[in-house]
Amino acid sequence: MEGSWFHKNRFPFFLVLSLLLQGKGSTFIINCSGFGQHGVYPTVLDSAFDRKAFRPVTNFSIPTLVNISFTMSAILDVDEQLQLLSSFLWLEMVWDNPFIRWNPEECEGITKISVATKNLWLPDIFIVEFMDIDKTPKDLTAYVSNEGRIRYKKPMKVTSICNLDIFYFPFDQQNCTLTFSSFLYTVENMLLGMEKEVWEIADTSRDIVQTHGEWELLGINKATPKMSLGTSLYDQIMFYVAIRRRPRLYIINLLVPSGFLIAIDALSFYLPAESGNRAPFKITLLLGYKVFLLMMNDLLPTSGTPLISVYFALCLSLMVVSLLETIFITYLLHLATTQPPPMPRWLHSLLLYWANPRTCCPTAPQKINKGIGLPPAHLPGVKEPVELVRKVSGPREAELNGCPESTRAQQEDEAQRQHLVNLWVQFSHMMDTLLFRLYLLFMATSVVTVIVLWNI
Ligand SMILES: *[C@@H]1O[C@H](CO)[C@@H](O)[C@H](O)[C@H]1NC(C)=O
Ligand SMILES: *[C@@H]1O[C@H](CO)[C@@H](O)[C@H](O)[C@H]1NC(C)=O
Ligand SMILES: *[C@@H]1O[C@H](CO)[C@@H](O)[C@H](O)[C@H]1NC(C)=O
Ligand SMILES: *[C@@H]1O[C@H](CO)[C@@H](O)[C@H](O)[C@H]1NC(C)=O
Repeated sequence: MEGSWFHKNRFPFFLVLSLLLQGKGSTFIINCSGFGQHGVYPTVLDSAFDRKAFRPVTNFSIPTLVNISFTMSAILDVDEQLQLLSSFLWLEMVWDNPFIRWNPEECEGITKISVATKNLWLPDIFIVEFMDIDKTPKDLTAYVSNEGRIRYKKPMKVTSICNLDIFYFPFDQQNCTLTFSSFLYTVENMLLGMEKEVWEIADTSRDIVQTHGEWELLGINKATPKMSLGTSLYDQIMFYVAIRRRPRLYIINLLVPSGFLIAIDALSFYLPAESGNRAPFKITLLLGYKVFLLMMNDLLPTSGTPLISVYFALCLSLMVVSLLETIFITYLLHLATTQPPPMPRWLHSLLLYWANPRTCCPTAPQKINKGIGLPPAHLPGVKEPVELVRKVSGPREAELNGCPESTRAQQEDEAQRQHLVNLWVQFSHMMDTLLFRLYLLFMATSVVTVIVLWNI
């Protein structure tokens, strides 16, 4: 009777107890007598160390779960030409070794010890994008807890391939991927998990990276697609690291000087075209700009065509165009003062309209000695306006002085010519103003376009 009761009621209890003990790996609990006041007795973990060649599991059909996390401590370099991102990581891996267990109550309350990693089996986690030899220092140690949980941290200089897009340089953001995966173990043998939440990783990394360097860490995202190679399936965790360049250096060294030079170029239109100073000034500016570009070439990405190169090319072409404009105006003025060609009637009307839009379009050119209501041209190369006026009002004077007819005709000719010169000079000035406005318009449009593109 008692026996049957025992079997009925105690048997499941013992079953559960024995299962629990088996699950805890009771057979692998380490004898604590090796732990003591003087540290750990050297041979105490030998039985576990002897197994380091094999994956530490009690049942080989159970995959080892390795939890990983990392802290990005520095972004060392971004190489646009080789498309490489160099960063520094503190990688942390956590997994369980069921052969290392002890009871802390029997072992002087010790709950964790550090063990040289050369005595332990290590998961072969690598970064898929890694493009260099792993220079991780040897002889690191790992913490082993009394429950057999191994916590292994290692510093890594990671040179990873990354698809860099430098179009928006120096206001660019990059999105680089770091994929952690096992080199050998397929999903049947190893699974990867997260030791920390991804936002925790991002926050810690951001705090540390923030303090130095050209790059700023924006955030880290993750994805966990499995990778299949042939018939094998590998577990992997992908981290998307978003970084942004700090543009201050480039703004101060590239954009501000370039902006000043182009502003001076625009302002140099106010130098009088007749003085002949404008063209040499613009040539000097052009040379200065070229030297500036040569000196700052090192700061620009060596490959690809970033927007900033287009911007510089645009500035340079604007300067060249403004120089050409100056040459054109100088030529026009020269032509006007030496041998003015007859002015077409439409041009004359246009000129009149420009000078005084209200009195629109007179049908014919007015009498020469009346003037056409344009302010007199100021031209060192030509006769002074005062002189001009005297010349224009010459005939009456000549009459008074009783000069012969031929002289009067000559004077009239001269006055007519002078008037033509005046007209052409006016025309040149108007062309100058018009082209200057076009130049300003084009410059403003292109600068606004570039800025808008940068802000997208
Ligand atoms: C632990 O080992 C010591 C000697 O090394 C032995 O005396 C003791 O009985 C062992 N304890 C257990 C629980 O096996
Ligand atoms: C190992 O684990 C598998 C799956 O969990 C189970 O089917 C099998 O019985 C286990 N083998 C041993 C010897 O415990
Ligand atoms: C890994 O993380 C999972 C979920 O966060 C947790 O259940 C598991 O115990 C961890 N394993 C190790 C070995 O840290
Ligand atoms: C980075 O790129 C991946 C896909 O390649 C995308 O899923 C992720 O959202 C991107 N991250 C950022 C911050 O743009």
